[in-house]
Amino acid sequence: MRNLNQHTITQAVIERFSNTPDPRLKEILNSLVKHLHDFARDVKLTEEEWLNGINYLTATGQMCDAKRQEFILLSDCLGLSMLTVAMNNDKPQGCTEPTVFGPFFLEEAPQFNLGDDVANGAIGKPCFVKGNIKSLDGTPIPNALINVWQADADGNYDVQYAHLAHPQARGILHSDAQGKYYFKTILAEAYPIPSDGPVGQMLRATKNHPWRPAHLHFMVEAPGHERLITHVFRDHDQYLDSDVVFGVRSTLIADWTEQDDGTYLLEYDFVLNPTAAKA
Ligand code: BEZ
Ligand code: FE
Repeated sequence: MRNLNQHTITQAVIERFSNTPDPRLKEILNSLVKHLHDFARDVKLTEEEWLNGINYLTATGQMCDAKRQEFILLSDCLGLSMLTVAMNNDKPQGCTEPTVFGPFFLEEAPQFNLGDDVANGAIGKPCFVKGNIKSLDGTPIPNALINVWQADADGNYDVQYAHLAHPQARGILHSDAQGKYYFKTILAEAYPIPSDGPVGQMLRATKNHPWRPAHLHFMVEAPGHERLITHVFRDHDQYLDSDVVFGVRSTLIADWTEQDDGTYLLEYDFVLNPTAAKA
């Protein structure tokens, strides 16, 4: 294996991995090498550009900590996150569609009772959210585990504040015996994703904005059903057709109606896919 050139090196690298015992790891490495080399040949990558790329990925890693995941943000803005969601969630017609998870979910969210205010002090216009959790055949799902999280009116998630005493605008609830859920929160508003790092640099270099249309995140789990990770978007938001992370689906857009008293109401039902009915 000497004197490799631009035409022979790809096969040589693939052969280097040929004894990989894990067949899936071998498949992924082979494909990665093939596409990475084809990419470099396709754009005729210069040595300077190679170093710029290495420096960019290094800066992306250096931006990551327990509260900031710049690599997920990069994957989101390159459409890789949404592609992976789309490929792995082929649900039957009628099920609620999933969308990107995003980097702001917290395992340790506070528990609330139905009707409570999950805003917990977060700034924003008052909003009431209610609906049903159902199985694909329409059967109500009682005691489903519902995680909700959202940004405040300033466009920040609680984890983006350095010194908050307690979590805000996130919580865990359970549907009642009839599969109903309801809670108070704040009105979701459009917000820009963090753009003070390498991902922001890429957005500016490509003349793209960093905004996500207003949305409320949901993760719904129930025995015998696939976990659903999704959002509900606000109709008429100006960024619905240019979401920076490509996450909008028409079926996830709902009316958040302003009430006579100036508060808002969102009604949305979630339909979970029974595990046995997996497409
Ligand atoms: C979010 O909606 O929380 C989000 C998703 C992807 C990237 C940044 C934020
Ligand atoms: Fe979000």
